Amino acid sequence: DMAKSHKRALEKMKRFVIEQQRKNPKATGELTTLLNAILTAVKAVSSSVRKAGIQKLFGIEGTVNVQGEDVKKLDVLANELFINMIKSSYSAAMLISEENENVIEIDPDKQGKYIIAFDPLDGSSNIDCLVSIGSIFAIYRKPVDGPVNRQHGLVKGRDIVTAGYALYGSATMLVLALGDETGVNGFMLDPSIGEFILTDPNLRIPTRGKIYSINEGYESQWDPAVKEYVHEKKYPKSNKPYGARYVGSMVADVHRTIKYGGIFLYPATQSSPNGKLRLLYEGNPMAFIVENAGGRTFNGKTSILDTETKNLHQRCPVFLGSDEDVKDIEELYKKHN
Ligand code: AHG
Ligand code: MN
Ligand code: MN
Ligand code: MN
Repeated sequence: DMAKSHKRALEKMKRFVIEQQRKNPKATGELTTLLNAILTAVKAVSSSVRKAGIQKLFGIEGTVNVQGEDVKKLDVLANELFINMIKSSYSAAMLISEENENVIEIDPDKQGKYIIAFDPLDGSSNIDCLVSIGSIFAIYRKPVDGPVNRQHGLVKGRDIVTAGYALYGSATMLVLALGDETGVNGFMLDPSIGEFILTDPNLRIPTRGKIYSINEGYESQWDPAVKEYVHEKKYPKSNKPYGARYVGSMVADVHRTIKYGGIFLYPATQSSPNGKLRLLYEGNPMAFIVENAGGRTFNGKTSILDTETKNLHQRCPVFLGSDEDVKDIEELYKKHN
């Protein structure tokens, strides 16, 4: 019955991360501690997002961030929650946030094992109109054994240990890729008990989908490969056009792509030659999750995870989703280059 399966699912979730920790003899438990800190931050952000209208948390905070964006009140709140929860878990060596120009350093004697990069609130332009938003994080192993400092901030996609995102949609869901044989798993927040329940075990992206997702408003600025690709989705030889879906919050567009298949594109444009999405806390974590779910990613040249990290908030072109759909755009880049 419902109660029993709910109970069983609850147990699975509660021990899920610890079960993985126990399998790894070298595990120190720091990853489990860190993930629990992130879960707490997500619960707090979820609660604030759902009450933002009442608590007058809509609108801008008044400053402009390093990205050149008007910072929203919820951007600030979410950022403070993530920073405080992760710092107090003593499992972080350094933090990198979309909302902080420089890395957030930790005293050498208090440093933990991992460097965490996060986008505390993704899709900020959608807050006030109640469209789904999210949070994204990537947990990177340190590039050196000893203490780290700001010169170690340029972490690489292939050094990601674990990545995940929270989607504050019709329900709050946490999708987690532990980078091991457990693949990618979705946990839905049951607000009545404050627990994440394993509702989507072993998420796998279909090898081909029927949806493409891109901001068509920039068509005049796309390169020839993208123009040809999108045209082919609308006027296919097969005479079966793809559907178009674009939320404008990366987490929502990526989650739909993982669940239903298809492709999400945020390409370079003339005005932003590396696209808009940031590598360390948007491109890399989403690429890690998508590739662990059997999907494929591309930055115009290689897998997003192989992008060379040149600066903290560097942007990178993002193509990700179903294996065959992403291969199609790769073929067009080969043809046009
Ligand atoms: P953020 O709100 O964290 O700055 O990210 C917004 C990003 C991403 O969520 C989304 O895919 C993209 O901006 C949408 O950009 P456009 O409005 O240019 O399509
Ligand atoms: Mn932003
Ligand atoms: Mn974002
Ligand atoms: Mn953001």
